[in-house]
Amino acid sequence: MLEVIILAAGKGTRMVSSLPKVLHQVAGKPMLQHVLDTCHELGADRLHVVYGYGGDLLREKIQNDDVNWILQAEQNGTGHAVDIAMSHVSDESTIIVLYGDVPLISKESLNALLQACGEQSVALMTAFLQDGGSYGRILRDSNQCFQSIVEHRDATPEQCEINEINTGFLAAPAARLKSWVSKLECENAQGEFYLTDIFAMAVADGVPVETCQPVDNSEILGINDRQNLSEVERIYQQQQAKRYLQAGLTVCDPNRFDIRGSLKHGKDCSIDINVIIEGEVTLGDRVSVGPNTLLRNMTIGDDVEIKANCILEDSSIGELAIIGPFARIRPESEIASLAHIGNFVEIKKSQVGSGSKVNHLSYIGDTEIGADVNIGAGVITCNYDGANKFKTIIGNNAFIGSDSQLVAPVEIGKGATIGAGSTITQNAPDNELTLSRAEQKTRKGWQRPVKNKA
Ligand code: UD1
Ligand code: MG
Repeated sequence: MLEVIILAAGKGTRMVSSLPKVLHQVAGKPMLQHVLDTCHELGADRLHVVYGYGGDLLREKIQNDDVNWILQAEQNGTGHAVDIAMSHVSDESTIIVLYGDVPLISKESLNALLQACGEQSVALMTAFLQDGGSYGRILRDSNQCFQSIVEHRDATPEQCEINEINTGFLAAPAARLKSWVSKLECENAQGEFYLTDIFAMAVADGVPVETCQPVDNSEILGINDRQNLSEVERIYQQQQAKRYLQAGLTVCDPNRFDIRGSLKHGKDCSIDINVIIEGEVTLGDRVSVGPNTLLRNMTIGDDVEIKANCILEDSSIGELAIIGPFARIRPESEIASLAHIGNFVEIKKSQVGSGSKVNHLSYIGDTEIGADVNIGAGVITCNYDGANKFKTIIGNNAFIGSDSQLVAPVEIGKGATIGAGSTITQNAPDNELTLSRAEQKTRKGWQRPVKNKA
């Protein structure tokens, strides 16, 4: 059985946040969730998270119901954290230890770690860095055999020169790990129980320590502050952009492309700069998305053109439709094929039929628009009386003149024409012209007032 212990009890003081650090998001997902998802991909049987505070919030925000949450009330070090988790694991298991604030670790690297760990050996993931910074250093003897780990703060200046560092990730047989962590002591610079000290114990017990390296060094980046968070976010987004480029999606600038969720796409789609994809978004073939656009939980058909500066949420758009620039489509809307939604148009919880056009400056809410309808500039559906919402229904082929208000509940018949500037409060019949408008007058000889020059 494979059990993973994820250490996440650290205070995260440098985040300057009231949120537990591991709930801060990378690509719209808590960093701890990234680690848990990778563990699932790896096929872990049980997941244990050692946390320090904010348990209720952690349980609320982390969706996995299979996580065993273990409280470490006082953070006495990584060794102490693993020690308290050991009473929750089976002696027969293989244990992997990960950190909740190191979210980019990949399944491939963890598989290598598992491969390196045998029934009678332990595995440690190390990395080679130009500058080992504050990481623990790996000490080896003259034959390059692993000896121990020294923490940066306990290291001599010579040891600090070593560029093989401890990533913190290890795999070990549970029974061995259990006995070692129970014997840890805290005589060191930080007065903490160091998990790293178990490796010297392994060597003393004649248990081989096998080392392996991550596929990419960026996988071991830990997040301590918001600077680190922004760096990890960018690395993650660039990795995603690279995958999409390889899969045949045109991404105009991988540095200005953010996916906070999942994107599926057909052939020959293109995404301009500063586009944000949130939740689940599906694009058909040949969809083009203009710059500065947010797509959240959208299903978009073939040959749709989304022009610049649109915000589209929880809705669907049929093939060959044209959206924007500056369009807003709010949840539960269905825009059918060949429809046009133009600039400064807001659509909410409405259906717009095939070939219908709402091209300029309109609010359409709680409305069913049939096929081939033309909605003139500035048309407003008045769907709300301050307490209740009402529906507007507009039949196929209707024409709504500019600057009209349709006061719901109201129905406009098929083929009906509404004269510009009308306030429609009653149903308008099929195929007739309906308008409500004060008669036009001209006052002959009327003089415009002039300013007094004195
Ligand atoms: C640790 C390693 C160091 C390694 C580095 C890699 C030890 C003693 N040192 O150092 O060799 O190079 O990670 O990043 O292990 N945590 C708890 N409970 C605690 C203490 C820590 O859950 O009591 C968690 C933290 O939330 C964090 C992880 O363990 O996720 C690592 O702790 P941190 O304090 O960052 O360890 P480092 O000093 O960086
Ligand atoms: Mg650290």
